[in-house]
Amino acid sequence: MKQNKILLLAAMLFLSVSTASAQDAEALFDAKCAMCHIKTRPADISTLTAPPLMGIMRHVKMRYPDKKKAVAFISDYALDPSSTKAVCMPQKIQRFGLMPSQKGNVTQSELKTISEWMYDNFPPAGFRGGQGQGMRTF
Ligand code: HEC
Repeated sequence: MKQNKILLLAAMLFLSVSTASAQDAEALFDAKCAMCHIKTRPADISTLTAPPLMGIMRHVKMRYPDKKKAVAFISDYALDPSSTKAVCMPQKIQRFGLMPSQKGNVTQSELKTISEWMYDNFPPAGFRGGQGQGMRTF
């Protein structure tokens, strides 16, 4: 009896940890990534310190349309960024510098949650990139 209860508790704990909701995922993005990657269309691109999320995801999906591959790419890039892996336009690295590795800042499992949320929600419908708005860098 007691053992059953413990098992049930363990199962509940496992479920609550393994099924992060979209809200939790966005909160994680806010805590770990949003200080550099804004989620909205920038009003003033001169104040940006990194490409906005919608621009990043447009380029990621152009290279990796498959969700699994996109999630793997984002998770890897966040911990181990390099100019040879980057899928965004080279002007981005020229303008903003290479992204600093987020090792120690975010875990593999948090990155999986964050990347899946990024893939599912960005870019927003109808987004065609920053070109034409004088936003060649995103
Ligand atoms: C300190 C600022 C900073 C933080 C924090 C940050 N990034 Fe970045 N990120 C950058 C900059 C700058 C670039 C553009 C240069 C580059 O691509 O390396 C970038 C680019 C990227 C790219 C595009 C890479 C490409 O192919 O060009 C991805 C994907 C990305 N970031 C994911 C993340 C995720 C996920 C997080 C949160 C875990 C995060 N970033 C946190 C600064 C940051």
